[in-house]
Amino acid sequence: MPQNRPRAFISGALPGRALAGGSVLDPLREVADCHVWEGQGSPGEGALREALHESEGLLCLLTDRVDRALIEACPRLRVISSCSVGVDHIDLGAASERGIVVGNTPGVLTDATADLAFGLLLAAARRLVEGDRFVREGHWRAERRWYPSMFLGADLSGKTLGVLGLGPIGRAVARRAAGFGMRVVGWTRSMREVEGVETLALPEVLAQSDFVSVHVALAEETRGLIGEKAIAAMKPTAILINTARGGIVDEAALAEALASGALFAAALDVFADEPLAPESPLRDLPNVVLAPHMGSATHRTREAMARMAVENLRAGLLGEPLAACVNPEVIQRS
Ligand code: DGY
Repeated sequence: MPQNRPRAFISGALPGRALAGGSVLDPLREVADCHVWEGQGSPGEGALREALHESEGLLCLLTDRVDRALIEACPRLRVISSCSVGVDHIDLGAASERGIVVGNTPGVLTDATADLAFGLLLAAARRLVEGDRFVREGHWRAERRWYPSMFLGADLSGKTLGVLGLGPIGRAVARRAAGFGMRVVGWTRSMREVEGVETLALPEVLAQSDFVSVHVALAEETRGLIGEKAIAAMKPTAILINTARGGIVDEAALAEALASGALFAAALDVFADEPLAPESPLRDLPNVVLAPHMGSATHRTREAMARMAVENLRAGLLGEPLAACVNPEVIQRS
């Protein structure tokens, strides 16, 4: 066994096997000593700090908070590879200052996340979860077997979908909407042109859309983007879908709008604080579909994310370019 192999800490068990059998971690084990967190849940700040003190590499999940204090406490750290496309749990400024390269997993989760966004859109439009509860809770009775005004929801065809953020996932949602006969309008900070999408200013998208689906990354500029003012600009018949990050939507303002009828419904896969607090008013609203951050949760996608995160970490430890790097300036200046 060669001496001075780097040490890599993996903050949770990863799904999937290597393509030829064995563990998804095998390519990493070839170049580094791997230590996988085996405790309950996520490691937490103290355990992360302890594990990373001697580590050159970290493979983390979006539940690990990799902040400036942690980065500064880990003198040997050279590579952070997150098994996620979103990297808002990592202080990128602090990592870049220290010359630490940060990798993520874009692309492989685009379709799975777009599918879930569209599934949530349909569920909210057609009141599927309400219907499911109605049947299970024994309210579906012979004397009211079917009647014309039972569980009326919203149509999709001919309606307008507003896509906020026209990256790969937003564009994949737009393609699905076209298949359902919807008009698609969109907003992105760069106002880029996207085929099949009419790019408009944000207030226009909000005002014209029957459905608004959020696909921007969480950053200082997008935190609270959908607050009281944005919600008031939407049609009262509109449905909001969020599969991006909870912090983009002001949950208190949303709950108020949904309760008062200022907004028809919402479908949310992500929340400002996860898991969603027991006292969140969103839990009591019948016109909200709730999901536990499962946009990329398919067997194939999670395996692909794990493989990509492993490859990113391996490449970084070997001093090679990462397949997906969110701070490439670190490599360019080294
Ligand atoms: C991500 O990757 O950022 C998603 O939120 C989880 O797949």
